[in-house]
Amino acid sequence: MKRSVILPDKEQTKALGRLLAAHFMPGDVVLLSGDLGAGKTTLTSGIGQGLNVESEVISPTFNILRCYFKGRLPLYHIDAYRLEGQNIEIGLDEAIEGDGVCVIEWPQFIEPLLPDDPLQIEIYNRGENTREFVFSCPTDRYDWVNNLPLEDLG
Ligand SMILES: Nc1ncnc2c1ncn2[C@@H]1O[C@H](COP(=O)(O)OP(=O)(O)OP(=O)(O)O)[C@@H](O)[C@H]1O
Ligand SMILES: [Mg+2]
Repeated sequence: MKRSVILPDKEQTKALGRLLAAHFMPGDVVLLSGDLGAGKTTLTSGIGQGLNVESEVISPTFNILRCYFKGRLPLYHIDAYRLEGQNIEIGLDEAIEGDGVCVIEWPQFIEPLLPDDPLQIEIYNRGENTREFVFSCPTDRYDWVNNLPLEDLG
């Protein structure tokens, strides 16, 4: 699966998150790549809205992991930015291999902990408020992304 969409503002990014959230299943892992300020946390907050997590998703940068248990599925939100060059054996595998949805910002810093078949979303800055989202997965696990009505978002 490989697909992309360009969205004009952060409200559309949140709408994308809500749309994705409707399709997630227990054990799904989402890798978010992109520069500082690309919109990874913004997308995750839309996912949180879509899962009905009942509390606003905020950046886990200083905590590494934030967990939300009250929605349709548990949401585990990891920001590995501060783990670059650090010991990564800090128990994140419980979130990554758990029965919720695990969304990971800066996944390159915890590479050994990642599954073989994540949903990868690369975010590119295409202008002040414009972002391109590129979806891929090496297996058919997330082929439902091909059928999402992404053209209705932007
Ligand atoms: N289309 C857009 N989608 C998402 N965010 C946007 C968009 N346009 C502008 N922004 C702004 O870009 C910033 C994105 O911040 P966000 O915290 O989501 O980035 P991030 O990728 O998580 O960064 P970091 O790597 O520092 O965690 C916010 O200030 C947001 O308002
Ligand atoms: Mg972030």
